[in-house]
Formats: sequence, structure tokens, C-alpha cells
Amino acid sequence: MKKIFYIVSICLLSAACSGKSHKAEKILDSKTAYKNESKIELPGKFYNYANPKIPAYFSVETEGFHGQLPALKSDNTPSDNPITDAGATLGRVLFYDKKLSKNFTVSCSSCHKAAHGFSDERTLSEGFMRGETRRHSMGLTNARFYKPGHFFWDQRATTLEDQVLAPIQDLVEMGMTRDLLVERVEAAPYYPALFKAAFGDEKVSTVTISKALAQFVRSLISTTSKYDLGRAQVENRRDPFPNFSTLENEGKRLFSSPIPMGGFGCFACHQGEAFVAEEATSNGLDVDISSDIGYGQITRDPKTEGHFKVPSLKNVALRAPYMHDGRFSTLEEVVEHYSSGIKSSPNLKPPLSIFGKERFLMNAEQKTAIVAFLKTLTDEKMVNDPKFSDPFVK
Ligand code: HEC
Ligand code: HEC
Repeated sequence: MKKIFYIVSICLLSAACSGKSHKAEKILDSKTAYKNESKIELPGKFYNYANPKIPAYFSVETEGFHGQLPALKSDNTPSDNPITDAGATLGRVLFYDKKLSKNFTVSCSSCHKAAHGFSDERTLSEGFMRGETRRHSMGLTNARFYKPGHFFWDQRATTLEDQVLAPIQDLVEMGMTRDLLVERVEAAPYYPALFKAAFGDEKVSTVTISKALAQFVRSLISTTSKYDLGRAQVENRRDPFPNFSTLENEGKRLFSSPIPMGGFGCFACHQGEAFVAEEATSNGLDVDISSDIGYGQITRDPKTEGHFKVPSLKNVALRAPYMHDGRFSTLEEVVEHYSSGIKSSPNLKPPLSIFGKERFLMNAEQKTAIVAFLKTLTDEKMVNDPKFSDPFVK
């Protein structure tokens, strides 16, 4: 029964039933008044989101520091919302749909742009009424592999399914109510078939909207950067990568080696093959943290004041400016922070807190090497993948 629904929906959506090749695309007409977004274009056969090729090293524990989870073990996909091709496709359309903001001006992608590593080049993003967000936008790459499954810089959303409804209802970002959201989505002619394909029912609800958006965000994983191509060729991540320059390999060594072994211990916080931390923490940005206590506001535990989520470093070179307030405009400035700018505070975390500051002072060559390594984490193939692109016909 489910299968029949599925086939019917695909036929509604695509040219798959008209005998054309799976590449054939059909443009769906929309009756909505909003001129720029009247049509979407989807492939005849859904793209593959459910079973992406995951490299073998995502299943192994990463050496260097013990206890670093294999990326796949830190997957936060809940059992009641696995990624399906139809569900993530619906999520993709919602992600790019400006109807999700009160005055039709802003979509998720306005602040999470693929070309900028799914973040925003603005220090603070602009919402539907041109108001500014409180913090800098976050890159969404590898959000799926953040084990605690908590979202936002201060981790206030406990699941991605919860998180995705927050910007829609945020008074600065998209300014909608749940009722208006459902009404808008119900009225757009391209959604019923997509909901049916994704959830077996044309009925629109905030639950299915949030599930679909979460599926799309979880599908934004990076496995094809220069780093990945090199990693796939060696047994151990510590081995020099054959596709890296001497400088990039040196940067990798400095990033991945503990401080007593001549590195800078970056890998203690930016962990494993997904380059994410196990928990929000502090990297010593400020002495006075009162302007934004971050995670401390959520936990009410003073020991976590000034702690922030550590987003995956995949695609980091694409998403300047950096940190929760966008204070650094280049990777060079970030590295200079770790070299000479770390501020001591009771909440600073190891390894930054346990080694004297002088242990971090880097020479020019070391700084250049670390920046070169960070750039190998850019995944052009992923950010340009059509399955993550804007489906609306301009
Ligand atoms: C007006 C800009 C804006 C819009 C529109 C917007 N976001 Fe965001 N997004 C942000 C900012 C800013 C943050 C960080 C906010 C914070 O932590 O306080 C963020 C954080 C996130 C995060 C958390 C990532 C992490 O690793 O914790 C996710 C996921 C996300 N947004 C998804 C979405 C989705 C899905 C939509 C559309 C429904 C959307 N955003 C719309 C600006 C925006
Ligand atoms: C104690 C844990 C810790 C260590 C060690 C650490 N970082 Fe970080 N890193 C963080 C945290 C926390 C953030 C986010 C801070 C914020 O925005 O308030 C961060 C942010 C970053 C960012 C910016 C990410 C973005 O999207 O804005 C880069 C780049 C970065 N770190 C690189 C490094 C490098 C290179 C090293 C080693 C020299 C390093 N980190 C060592 C915890 C750490």
C-alpha cells in the first residue's frame, strides 16, 4: 500500500511516469502569488539521501587521543525520523522556500548559504524585517554527527527536530506562527505530493515539517574534501596523506598531535573524522563573558558560562567570519587567537587551560601550516551538489 502511494506521488512530481529518462525534469506550476517562487524543479527520481556513500574510516575510532568516537557512532538521527529520499527532498524544498517567512523574503538558505559552508558571510544575519540575529549563523555541515544532538551555539534546542521550528517562529528571523506556517505550506500546490511521498499522507503538520527539515539538514554531510580523499588512502590518520603538500601534512600533524608531542592539540576539541566536539566548551575568547554566557544560560551552571558549541570544522574555510559572534574575519585571525590570544578564565577547558600560554606561541610557518590544513577540510563537491541546491526556478 505504502509503495503504491510512493509511486503515485513520484508520478505527480516528476517525469518518471511519462517514459522519459530519470534525468528528465518537469516544472511544477504554482498558483501562489509570489512571483519569484512559483515553480520548483525536482529530478524525475529522487536524489539519494538515505544511503550516501560513507567512508570506511567513519566507522573506526580515531587514534591520537583515546576515546574519540567513530563519526558514525555520534550520529544523532532518532529512530523515529530516519532520512528517506522523499523526506529529505521535501526538506530541501522547505529549506529554500521563502514562504516560510512572514513577508516572503527569507528562507533558511538566506542565512545558511551553500557557497558559504551553509553559514552566512554577514557577522550577524538579517531576518525578514531586516533585524539582526543575536549571534553569527552556524555552518550546518556534519550537524548529524554531533553526538549530544543539541543545537544552536548555546545548545538550547535538544533535538534537530525542535531546532528547525525555532527560526521559523523567531521574531527576528522568519516571524511566523505555527498556524500560519501550516496554512502557507498547505496552500502551495507542490507540497501535497511531497508530503504524501515522504510521510504517506498529504496532511501538513508542524511535526512533519520539522521532520523533513531535520532530514535535509542531517543529509548535509561532508565525505569528499581533499582531507577525505587523503584519509581514504592511508591506514592511520597520523600517516602523511599522499595528496597533501608538505605544508598541509605539517598542519595536520600540528592540529592532531597533543601539546607534549609538539602539536597544538586542536584535535582534543575538534574531534574525530567529523571534526566536532563532544560537548560545548570554551576556547578562551574573553575574560569578561557577561555579554553572552552561552551554554551557561541553558544549564544554569556557572561552570559552563562562556561555553559554546563547537561546530564541525568541515567547510570552515568557506564560512568566515568565525566564532559565535563572528569576531574573526579570517582563519589567520583564528589561528592567531590560539597562538597569542587565549584568555584565562575559570571556565577555560583543557588542553587550553592546563598548559602555560607560552606553549601555544606559534611561529609564522606553523600558523601557515595550520591554515593550509584547515583549507583541506573544504568540500567543494558537497557544497555544489545539486541535491543540496535551490530547487526553485528563478
Ligand atoms: C535570519 C537568519 C536565519 C534564518 C532565516 C535561519 N537561520 Fe538557522 N541559524 C541562524 C543563526 C544566527 C544561528 C545561530 C543562533 C544561535 O545559536 O543563537 C542558526 C543556527 C541554526 C542551526 C544550529 C546548528 C548547530 O550546529 O547547532 C540549525 C540546524 C539551523 N540554524 C537551521 C535552520 C533552518 C532549518 C532554517 C529554516 C527553517 C534556519 N536555520 C533559518 C540564522 C538563521
Ligand atoms: C578546548 C577546546 C578547543 C581547542 C583545544 C581548540 N578549539 Fe577551536 N573552537 C573551540 C570552541 C569552543 C569554538 C567555538 C567558540 C565560540 O564560537 O565561542 C572553536 C572554534 C574554532 C574555529 C571557528 C569555527 C567557526 O565555525 O566559527 C576554528 C577555525 C577553530 N576553532 C580552530 C581551532 C584550531 C586550529 C585549534 C588548535 C590550534 C583549536 N581550534 C583548538 C574549542 C577548541
